[in-house]
Amino acid sequence: MSNIAILEVDGKRYEFPMLKGSENEITIDINNLRSVTGGITTLDPGFKNTSSCESAITFLDGEKGILRYRGYSIEELAEKSDFLEVAYLLIFGELPTKVQKADFTKEIKKNNIVDEDIKKILDGFPRSAHPMGVLSALTSALTAFNPKSVNVESEKDMFKAVCKILGKFPVLVAWTYKKEEGLPLAYGDNSLGYVENIIKMMFERPNEKFVMNPVVVKALDKLLILHADHEQNCSTSTVRVVGSSQTGLFASLSAGISALWGPLHGGANQAVIEMLEAIKEDGGDYQKYIAKAKDKDDPFRLMGFGHRVYKNFDPRANIIKEAAEEVLNDLGIDDPVLDIARGLAKEALSDEYFKSRNLYPNVDFYSGIIYRALGIPVPMFTVMFALGRLPGWIAQWKEMRLRKEPISRPRQLYTGAPLRAFVEEAER
Ligand code: CMC
Repeated sequence: MSNIAILEVDGKRYEFPMLKGSENEITIDINNLRSVTGGITTLDPGFKNTSSCESAITFLDGEKGILRYRGYSIEELAEKSDFLEVAYLLIFGELPTKVQKADFTKEIKKNNIVDEDIKKILDGFPRSAHPMGVLSALTSALTAFNPKSVNVESEKDMFKAVCKILGKFPVLVAWTYKKEEGLPLAYGDNSLGYVENIIKMMFERPNEKFVMNPVVVKALDKLLILHADHEQNCSTSTVRVVGSSQTGLFASLSAGISALWGPLHGGANQAVIEMLEAIKEDGGDYQKYIAKAKDKDDPFRLMGFGHRVYKNFDPRANIIKEAAEEVLNDLGIDDPVLDIARGLAKEALSDEYFKSRNLYPNVDFYSGIIYRALGIPVPMFTVMFALGRLPGWIAQWKEMRLRKEPISRPRQLYTGAPLRAFVEEAER
């Protein structure tokens, strides 16, 4: 194949280099398109065909259902690694040695505490506030308590900032939950592991002895690994775009949390369980909901189905489906919603509408079932996703800054009114 792409406009030919990624993906480098053509741009709403950056963090092949972090398959990481190790891998590029892992863990534990004044901010929210809004606000507030920007060029500085946010974030996550439940805010116990500590901070009650369930720890650890990064998705792109104006790490992460909140992205896990519950309440007739999803005049979509990139299967969904069955078995839970999910998936997978559009269950189709089994309330589902995605956002922010990417500033095709004379108020 030639390594140039040719564009012809009004009989004039322009050549653009074709670049090849390490997995042989091909892209046309149009960096100088406007300058050589005198202002022509490309139009690609939703960036369906646009590579917004070069990245060495996560590889995803939507056709083949492949997901790898730094070259390691998601299947192997989910089976053999743990969340903190995966966080280190994503952010620093390699799996940590024993010593590196110990240092990383120690520094994170040191930061597993937040300024007491954060409690006052939390106090200002009504109990009815959605935990994602609260989490985004608290993460942004961390900027006020840590006003010095991290020097991304300094490995030491960056290591400290990474450990700071990885340490403090679970406290914020647990506190958004406690706020929602009206329970006292509590800290963890640094003799516990990272995920154990999160569970303790979330579920310990002042009037009961807390007992850690290893099934819950293992399942949550796996879920966090599966969510840890997913290349240039909506929230990650948001973190990179916001950070490209040299906004600090914590404020960029806060923007990522807001982007994740929406039901077409991370908010889908909440929407899925609400949809499955609604089907259950409605007598379990999922055919009716499949018909609604296919009806062009009905805005209803089958939540947890379809993906911008995966057009064959979502490898995370396969792992999660298995994990969901395991957790329900281990915890001895018989959840009728899982039966509805199984039936709905089976039906949709053999339906021509879904087959022809390559719509498969995605990661969110099953994750809500696990969260529910673990006792996590529905509005907290997307918060758990954010907890998992944190290392990916940090890794992508760091990479963007180290590569000295230019400020993100797309162009547009203007379709508004041409120049017109101002109309005085009396004449409007
Ligand atoms: N139910 C019914 N029809 C659908 C669905 C769905 N869930 N998803 C896509 N379609 C149809 C859509 O109507 C369109 O049909 P047509 O070609 O006849 O107009 C076709 O499939 C292509 O859809 P699209 O909206 O152009 O595809 P997209 O790549 O822009 O959207 C998506 C991807 C994930 C936003 C979409 O599939 C969706 O809304 N799914 C439901 C929400 C969801 O589960 N989101 C979680 C995604 S995975 C986790 C994450 O990324 O955070």
